[in-house]
Amino acid sequence: MDMILRNARIHSREGLWDIRISDGRIAKISKGLRGTHDETLDLKGRLVMPSFIDMHVHLDSVFTSGYSELNTSGTLLEGITVWGDTRRKLTSDLIRRKAGEALKWMVSNGTTRLRTHADTSEPDLRIVKALLDVREGFRHLMDIEVTAFPQDGILTADRCLPQLEKAVEMGADNVGLIPHNEYTREDGVRSVKIAFEIAEENDKKVDGHIDETDDPHSRFLEVVAAETIRRGFQGRVTAGHTTAMHSYDNAYAFKLFQLLKKAQLTIVPNPLTNIHVQGRFDTYPKRRGMTRVKELLESGINVALGHDCIMDPWYPLGMGDMMQPLFMAVHIGHMMGHQDLVTAFDLITHNSAKALGVSDQYGVEEGKLADLVVLDARNEIEALAKQATRTYVFKGGVLVARNTEGVREVRTNGRFEELDCLPLEITSKGGEKEEKMGQI
Ligand code: FE2
Repeated sequence: MDMILRNARIHSREGLWDIRISDGRIAKISKGLRGTHDETLDLKGRLVMPSFIDMHVHLDSVFTSGYSELNTSGTLLEGITVWGDTRRKLTSDLIRRKAGEALKWMVSNGTTRLRTHADTSEPDLRIVKALLDVREGFRHLMDIEVTAFPQDGILTADRCLPQLEKAVEMGADNVGLIPHNEYTREDGVRSVKIAFEIAEENDKKVDGHIDETDDPHSRFLEVVAAETIRRGFQGRVTAGHTTAMHSYDNAYAFKLFQLLKKAQLTIVPNPLTNIHVQGRFDTYPKRRGMTRVKELLESGINVALGHDCIMDPWYPLGMGDMMQPLFMAVHIGHMMGHQDLVTAFDLITHNSAKALGVSDQYGVEEGKLADLVVLDARNEIEALAKQATRTYVFKGGVLVARNTEGVREVRTNGRFEELDCLPLEITSKGGEKEEKMGQI
């Protein structure tokens, strides 16, 4: 059935507009659309945007904060150690359930497309298998890309490389890497080349965790950019975090930007995690540890944000709401000028679509997919200021989430189900697992 969204505000268009949705796409945008047989929804002047995209999230670790040990130092490295213990205890079923719950939160917050990392470090690859299952099982709510992510590195143990290769064979969409986590600079450089080789052989994209550290000598981003250019991978590579860039001297950063532009790399900051785990070895002044978002954008380099973590060993908070990292990014990055704020949403919408290669079907325009979020606000700045309610969320023309009169609902199995947003609480005693839905 066709649907008409009436009285919508749309970015850069004056006044109120009607949007006809037909066959999952935006068929027409006009004023005073007629259609007596169509289902109609009066948006009452609310803002319509393309639904959000999360470029970097770890669905395997969601809700595991405190499942084994707590990360008491708040450092990235302790988070990795705690996760190493946690992941061994997670069953495939639990990973699928946790991820599914997180997806519902994310959809209700306006996200309908994401890229997740699946840790390849467990010998039986059950984490990868579980997230590939989630990718298929939740297509009605979310378009998901899975990155095979070697959390332990590619060269730190004999098992790492074959497991990464196997994960790609199983159907992961992208090849991951984490060169700053390898034992030496030389191993890090080698790991970049290996990741690109696997991507080239299997016709995959590259999606790295790159230079996630305050160490100004961590310079694997330049290696990734050079490899991208040499192999003709322009436009198919993303570099997550790149927090070391915060600490590079300006002369080096200037040179690096030329290379990034040539390589058409997308940089993916994760402001919530970055501000939390970076700067941990500083006394005062403490570095913010987020990559140079404003300067990258001004240099014409694509930047898109990720949520990264939801209540896990690295980041104990989070609601799967992309407006939270966006809110954090504009603060940390000094992007609060009027025009900065008007275009800030590009960081979780159009820039991400460009990185994923889906711009041709994305946006509030005739002919594009009806993947839309309706915000209870009149413009972008108001939406960001009040973290506006996501009143309606559409995926492929289907209303998949709504939040009216304070009741948050997500469509599952063909009907709406109230979402209470209590975290899926999981506990572990003496190696035995207990799982239950949290009731606080
Ligand atoms: Fe990450």
